[in-house]
Amino acid sequence: MNPLDPCTLVIIGATGNLSRVKLMPGLFRLELAGRLPEKMVILSIYRSPFSRAEWQKEIKGMLEAKFPEGLDKEALTRFMNRTRYHGHGNPPDDATSYERLRDTLSDTKIYPSNIVFFLSIRPSDFSNVVDSLAGVGLLKEDKGWRNVVVEKPFGTDLVSSQQLQKALSKHLTEKQTYRIDHYLGKGTVQNIMVLRFANMLLEPIWNHHCIDYVQVMHSETLGVGDRTKFYESTGALRDMIQSHLLQMVALVAMEAPANMDAESLRDEKVKVLKAIRPVAPDDVSSQAFRAQYAKGIIDGKPVPGYKEEPGVAPDSVTETYAALKLYVDNWRWAGVPFYISTGKRLAEGSSAIMIRFKNPPQDLLRTRCGKASPPNWIMLGIQPDDCVKMELQVKVPGLDLATRTMSLDANYKNEDDVDYDAYESLLLDVIADNQSLFLRMDEVEWAWRVVDPIIKDWAADRRPIPQYEAGSKGPKGTYKLFDRPDQFWRYSLEKGGADVEPF
Ligand SMILES: NC(=O)c1ccc[n+]([C@@H]2O[C@H](COP(=O)([O-])OP(=O)(O)OC[C@H]3O[C@@H](n4cnc5c(N)ncnc54)[C@H](OP(=O)(O)O)[C@@H]3O)[C@@H](O)[C@H]2O)c1
Repeated sequence: MNPLDPCTLVIIGATGNLSRVKLMPGLFRLELAGRLPEKMVILSIYRSPFSRAEWQKEIKGMLEAKFPEGLDKEALTRFMNRTRYHGHGNPPDDATSYERLRDTLSDTKIYPSNIVFFLSIRPSDFSNVVDSLAGVGLLKEDKGWRNVVVEKPFGTDLVSSQQLQKALSKHLTEKQTYRIDHYLGKGTVQNIMVLRFANMLLEPIWNHHCIDYVQVMHSETLGVGDRTKFYESTGALRDMIQSHLLQMVALVAMEAPANMDAESLRDEKVKVLKAIRPVAPDDVSSQAFRAQYAKGIIDGKPVPGYKEEPGVAPDSVTETYAALKLYVDNWRWAGVPFYISTGKRLAEGSSAIMIRFKNPPQDLLRTRCGKASPPNWIMLGIQPDDCVKMELQVKVPGLDLATRTMSLDANYKNEDDVDYDAYESLLLDVIADNQSLFLRMDEVEWAWRVVDPIIKDWAADRRPIPQYEAGSKGPKGTYKLFDRPDQFWRYSLEKGGADVEPF
């Protein structure tokens, strides 16, 4: 298939939050960049009746809210010309709605026959909507390709993800199924692969011989906001670790793929997830830690604790902070702990991968300098700073043989480089029919297998869980995960960031 073949992008749930905040603005930015195929049409589906003009006004409002600095007139006209609206019936699985949709899409003078259906709807509606699309023949690929984008979360544990897959696979092949993990659309996450596989420098040291531990960390200052209903049944382990953070672990730990095509790439990620040592029931307490934010101060303002948020059960044990210690049992990573953590209402919002190296086999300078040389670090900032940093020891200028830490700081963005949002890059891949940055089903299953034993253990244990003050660096109890007293969470990419003592 020519990646720039025109296609119809059907957004189901087009007035929802994701569509307003990410999809429409992302598509408009691709329009501005001239990356949308000329004859591509964006067909929005929602349950309320709109005329095409009213819908275009609605979209303009979404774009103005996202780009208050103003909208390029030419790009806006081009964008509006390709947007159309289809009013769905209510209830949404009403068969006549889909018959009308099929009739609308059969007008190939307007709608290209290659079609992407983007399910921007509640996960509980995924299989009904796919059933309905298939019921009217819209997923048959006799006239063009048909792809379906499925938002996260894909299930809430291994069994439910397999049930969802069973329902979808009645009508969709794996090739037609695009499971989103939007972290994979982030340029900085893709940079992990570039750094590892476009450079020879790192490969010889990227293993258990040289690396002491790997830390993958994501923190947010935000609380659960108005998503308590969703969050109460989800928690940090499912929301962040099963998906985004395990993907980062896979990219750090994978072997070089045979090539960069979707299958080779995903084969290697699956091998890592499969090699993660299962957490035995008796080891949950030493390999996993959960906590909840208590009230505190964020940006100088008092904020409530999780249990004080509206809609949270007084005896809730849903974690807003989760940390794990995992081992990837293969030749490259034998014995290297991967410490993973995520939390809400923490002191800073950031994502980073920090890799600490072992000390040299003989610390020759200790006798001359009086102290052990600090270990080397390689750090990848994902957000807010996208950067690569490396810490080395150098001699302090002067007569004495003293050492100091030097930070090689590669902020790899040039001033005129344009940043794209993760959804922009993923939307482009969907219309180019490229699955590399989407999850294959076996990847989803193996990621659930990693966290499922912990989910089960935590669900069964209803005792109150540890609290941490909002605005702090996290719960103190998390330090029990570390293998040795000299291992710790590194919070800062700045030079000296490794000097922070465990608290
Ligand atoms: N928002 C985000 O930033 C974000 C981030 C990651 C993942 N996601 C995922 O993205 C999906 C959408 O999230 P969201 O936040 O946009 O949800 P949302 O705000 O609840 O929007 C869903 C929209 O879909 C409509 N809808 C539901 N079923 C429909 C159907 N059968 N046909 C047509 N329209 C239908 C809903 O209409 P009604 O109001 O009438 O029900 C609503 O407008 C979810 O799977 C979520 O997990 C969202």
